This record gives sequence, C-alpha cells and structure tokens, in this order.
Amino acid sequence: VRLFVPCDAGALAVGADEVAQALHKAALERGAEVEIVRNGSRGLYWLEPLVELETAQGRFGFGPVTADDAPSLLDAIIADKPHKLSLGLTEEIPWLKRQTRLTFARCGIVDPLSLDDYRAHGGYKGLTRALTLTPDAVIAEVTTSGLRGRGGAGFPTGIKWKTVSQTAADRKYVICNADEGDSGTFADRMLMEGDPFVLIEGMTICGIAVGATKGYIYTRSEYPHAIATMAKAIEIAKKAGLLGDKIAGSNYTFDLEVRTGAGAYVCGEETALMESLEGKRGVVRAKPPLPAHHGLFGKPTVVNNLLSFAAIPFILDEGAKAYADFGMGRSRGTMPIQIAGNVKFGGLFETAFGITLGELVDDIGGGTFTGRPVRAVQVGGPLGAYFPRALFDTPFDYEAFAAKDGLIGHGGIVVFDDTVDMSKQARFAMEFCAIESCGKCTPCRIGSTRGAETIDKIRRGERVAENIALVEDLCGTMKLGSLCALGGFTPYPVLSALKHFREDFGPQQPRLQ
Ligand code: NAI
Ligand code: SF4
Repeated sequence: VRLFVPCDAGALAVGADEVAQALHKAALERGAEVEIVRNGSRGLYWLEPLVELETAQGRFGFGPVTADDAPSLLDAIIADKPHKLSLGLTEEIPWLKRQTRLTFARCGIVDPLSLDDYRAHGGYKGLTRALTLTPDAVIAEVTTSGLRGRGGAGFPTGIKWKTVSQTAADRKYVICNADEGDSGTFADRMLMEGDPFVLIEGMTICGIAVGATKGYIYTRSEYPHAIATMAKAIEIAKKAGLLGDKIAGSNYTFDLEVRTGAGAYVCGEETALMESLEGKRGVVRAKPPLPAHHGLFGKPTVVNNLLSFAAIPFILDEGAKAYADFGMGRSRGTMPIQIAGNVKFGGLFETAFGITLGELVDDIGGGTFTGRPVRAVQVGGPLGAYFPRALFDTPFDYEAFAAKDGLIGHGGIVVFDDTVDMSKQARFAMEFCAIESCGKCTPCRIGSTRGAETIDKIRRGERVAENIALVEDLCGTMKLGSLCALGGFTPYPVLSALKHFREDFGPQQPRLQ
C-alpha cells in the first residue's frame, strides 16, 4: 500500500503530521506493509489533510482526514471497501479537473525531495533543452512565450533577461523574489514546499541565459517549512551536479542559496530586497538605475518573482508557443490564482488568463464560507482594489484589471461577505502602509498616518464630505509622489472602497450581523 500525506504547511496546520503518524501506527498494529510518501499539497485546502492512495487507475483521495480516522481508513483500504471520506479519483475532482496546471503540474504529485520523481515527471527537460541552445535563443524563447512578471507589475520577462544579458559586467546575479507578503497569497510557499526543483531548474536556466553565476532565493522567516525544503533540494541538486561548476556536464556555473528576510512587507519591493540581501536595512532605492543594469552589489541582476521562474522549465521544454497558446490579450499563459478569505472552497487554482472574477469567486470558490452574500473582493494583496459584484465580469488579465482601476498583483483573491465594513477596510489600507512604510518618502510615511486619521474622522461623522475630499486629494498625492508601489498603490483599496461602497463612509451604523 502506497499512501500520500502532504507535508505542506497548510496541511500541517490542520494535522497532517498527526494523520501520518496515526496511519503509520495503524499499519504497524495490522502488520500491513504501508509506504507513506510526504508530498506537497494539491491546493484544495478545504480537503486537507488529503490522503491519497496509489491505485492502478490513479490516485484515490480521502479527506479531510483526522488522526482518529486513520484506523478505519486503513481497514477500508486493506479490505478494498468504501470509506466515508472517499473522494474518488483525485484527478477527477471537478475543482482540480477544471484547472490548467503548467507551473503547478507536479505539485502535490511528486515527493518534493526526490530528484528521481522530479525527473520521472518531466523535470530537467527544460534545462536539457536550454543547454542545446545559445543563451540568446533561450531568452528569445522566453520572450516569445509572452511570460510577464508574476510578482504583479507584469513586465515582460524576456526583455528583463535581455537587458541583463546585454549589460557587460564581471559578475551578474539572479534573485528569486519569494518574499510573498500579499494577503491571501500562498503560491510561492506551496511550490517551494511541493516542487522545489522546478524553481531551481528555472533559476538555473535564467543564470545560463543572462550569464549569471550566482542566485539567491529571498523568502520570509514566516515560511520555515519552505526554507527547509528549499535548502535540502539545493543540496540534493548540488550533489547531483545540477548546481555548482559544470552544470549537467556543461561549461556553465551556477550556484544557489536561500536567504531569509525578517518579514518587512517592503522587502518584497526589488530594490529594498537587494538592500536587505546586502545586509542593510530594507529601504527602497530610487530607480533608475534599474536592477537589470545596477542591481545586487552594483552588478546587473535579474529579479523575478518565484512564479515567473517556475514557469520557465515548461516554456523551454514544451516551447514558447505551447505556453503562449493559453491566455488572452497581452496576458499569455496561466496564472496560479490563490482563492482565500471568507470563501467556501479556497486554494490554488491555476488557469489560463481570461477567466472572470465572478467565475472564480462564485463558481470555483463556491461563494462565502459563512453562506452570506459576497459583497466585496480584494484582488492583488493589501494594495489591490476592492471590487463589488458589479465588476464580477472583469476577466483575469493585467490590462482588464488596470482598466477598472485594479490590479491582479500576485494573483491573490480575498473574499468578504456582506458584514464587511468598507470604511474600516479603507482605514486598514492606510494603517498597513503606515506600519510597513520604509520611511524614505513623505507622501507614504506621513500621508498614510494622516489618511488613517482622516478616515477615522469620517467614520465618526465629522465633516464627512470635506474629509472624503481630503482623503481623495491625499490619495492623489500618494499615487503621484511615492517612490515605490507601497505608497503609490495604497490609494487603490482606499479609492475603490470610496467609489464602490460610498454608503459605508459616514457616521457608522451598526452593521448587519
Ligand atoms: P515596475 O513597473 O517599476 O517594474 C517592474 C519590473 O520590471 C521591475 O523588476 C523593474 O526593474 C523591471 N523593469 C522595468 N523597466 C525595465 C527595463 N527597461 N528593462 C529591464 N527591466 C525593467 O514595478 P515594481 O515597483 O517593481 O513593482 C510594482 C508591482 O509590484 C505592482 O504592480 C504590484 O502589483 C506588485 N506588488 C507585488 C507584491 C507581492 O507581494 N508580490 C506586493 C506589492 C506590490
Ligand atoms: Fe518607502 Fe513608502 Fe516611499 Fe516606498 S513609498 S519608498 S515604502 S516611503
């Protein structure tokens, strides 16, 4: 009997370790031969801990399993009888079946630290092909795929790589931004815990393409499991000759290291991140110069989000067209969307760009967990706009969201029901900015504090119209006068709350309960 019990932090938080132990104990008591593989998560978080059984037809799922269920589950498996937690074949669960998993193809399937498993599922085919091409041809492939930065800004990845490749220097760097700080996001963590080699392979291909010999994965201390898995995977890749000198028998050198930040949100901004990597306080640097010209330690540096790098092995293996065939407009390929907040079916949903927000929230997310009507959705993290139901026909696409004064950011969706107080959410945006501001520029450092105070006045019913105009004016200053996205994007949640949920601003009434 071969069982899979996830070791993903989301599964561990709901007792996956206890389930694995209980299954092991039950197996010993029954004298049954049971192999337990600790895989990553499939991303169907309401079913965690999701235990899977390997069968000739495919993997059979059971969930959510508790430690108390282990004996009866094992009895049913051994006797080949149905069990109350049976979900059928995992791949047939509609929530999973509807997805297009290119980046997360292996996550939840492979043993994260088995290089053999990674290879058996198509791993390292991208690097193998990259090694047959010239660096310029690798970059051309990435450009043709249409891949854009998955951290939020959506800058074309191929153009960024080309800039670094064409900048002469004695040393170049590759940085993976895995400082996943947006509310409701977990894709970076899930991938590091469930399929770390895909990131190593993607970064290695980048290093070869741009002429960099050293890479850093910058992540947060809140991700201890991801850090441990990544560090082990790097060691395994080094021992297998896939990192270090003469990668995979070639003449290329590329080494990799995990670095842990202390959790400041602003360290997700690429220049603050580099300051932090250099051992300094995470303060934003003015651009230009771009990191592509003058980055880490003053050297040309590729800084990409983890999801951008993780898309690379597929692009090199299957070809740029196979990736670009998915999507809409200028948003090509797939986006690993993270559905969270007050939602019935939360988790990771990778799909081609173009799906509407309404489909994601009502259909796939199943509406709210509380069963109350959905009132607002925040997309793109704490600096993303709040969308009302009236905007649910917006397709998931960089340009379509921008046209509605929103952003898709890193693909996080946080759902709220009709008990949400949107003036409180607007205040929270200002407060968040005040706490996380690096302090370098005035509109962000001071504006956010004044903004929170002014929203407090509105909430108390003090000169409401006048103070709303003041907040709107302040938002204009923050948008135009801030050095980075933290101060510059805080107005999005504030202004969208004011625009779409104006009735919440004014003397506060007791809300529906
Ligand atoms: P940006 O628009 O300044 O730059 C985007 C990227 O393209 C940067 O890496 C920049 O260095 C690069 N770039 C721009 N022009 C280039 C050129 N000619 N050649 C080579 N590279 C070039 O955006 P920024 O400030 O880096 O990021 C803002 C975005 O971050 C927002 O759109 C927001 O959605 C997102 N964000 C993401 C968060 C997360 O947790 N993932 C948190 C907060 C914001
Ligand atoms: Fe720092 Fe805020 Fe200015 Fe960004 S906008 S540089 S976080 S003070």
